[in-house]
Amino acid sequence: MYTSLTNDDLYRRFFQAHVPPASTIERILSTAERDGVGLVAVLEERDGSVRLVGETSYEMVPDGGAEIGITVAPGSRGWLGPYLLDALVEAAGVRGITNLQADVLVENRRMLALMRARGYATMDHSERPSIVRVVIGTERRTPPWPGTHHGARVLVEAPGGRWHGESAARAAGFEVLVCPGPLAHTRCPALAGEPCPLASAADLVVDAVSPDTPAGRALLDAHGRLHPGVPVCVEFPPSATTTGSQPALGPHADDTAVVALLQRLTRPPAPA
Ligand SMILES: CC(C)(COP(=O)(O)OP(=O)(O)OC[C@H]1O[C@@H](n2cnc3c(N)ncnc32)[C@H](O)[C@@H]1OP(=O)(O)O)[C@@H](O)C(=O)NCCC(=O)NCCS
Repeated sequence: MYTSLTNDDLYRRFFQAHVPPASTIERILSTAERDGVGLVAVLEERDGSVRLVGETSYEMVPDGGAEIGITVAPGSRGWLGPYLLDALVEAAGVRGITNLQADVLVENRRMLALMRARGYATMDHSERPSIVRVVIGTERRTPPWPGTHHGARVLVEAPGGRWHGESAARAAGFEVLVCPGPLAHTRCPALAGEPCPLASAADLVVDAVSPDTPAGRALLDAHGRLHPGVPVCVEFPPSATTTGSQPALGPHADDTAVVALLQRLTRPPAPA
């Protein structure tokens, strides 16, 4: 199946524009030996022959989640990717894995759409700017925070899932997840009246969804009601006409100002 892929597809799947060496394929095939799961989709032809048309697998990562890879043969795209991914999500959930992560090229719109439809949050942009690490949940559509964490958790709600202060905040020791917010095509639990697992376990929420929009106002209101102990800081876009009572971050705040504000606002660690 891999030999039927274009160089672009190979690059999207393996970050190299050629069929991977046997050692990579053997590693994918043996993921079950390391508590992972691998699934394949085969197509049975009328003459009884079978053809591999899709594969997906996950490999455990140190934070307690798992990292996924997925390929669908060109002739079977358009439906098989979502089906295979849902089967993998189900298999992971049954095994108690609550989040699945993927490194995706920012230009890989199909894979990003696939993950976005399952409620992704962004874990990292910084190591390689062309690659984004996204995370989805297996138990519900909003992922939980990765299992282990060392710094205060900052949830940023930013349209597009990208925030200018991410790298500086991570470099200063914060754990940062960026949620694309209620403006994306996904269901926002807070706007549906349910506590958001990311917001309720955060030490600070940075709300960069414009408070001038109905969704922005509803989101701020929901945080106050549903996550009362979690501090919220609003980032106003340059066009905003509203100012509220929450601590605020100006749109042109530089990295030093961002880090200083996060340090001041994050809630203190719970007593042991
Ligand atoms: C990524 C991949 C597994 C997706 O499987 P698929 O069967 O093609 O999935 P779909 O055709 O359902 O597309 C997934 C989503 O992308 C959307 N999409 C399709 N073509 C698109 C395009 N050109 N631009 C933007 N979105 C697109 C679909 O509408 C769908 O979104 P929806 O569920 O909201 O409708 C498959 O395309 C593939 O194997 N690509 C090459 C390898 C790869 O990129 N692997 C992922 C590495 S992490």
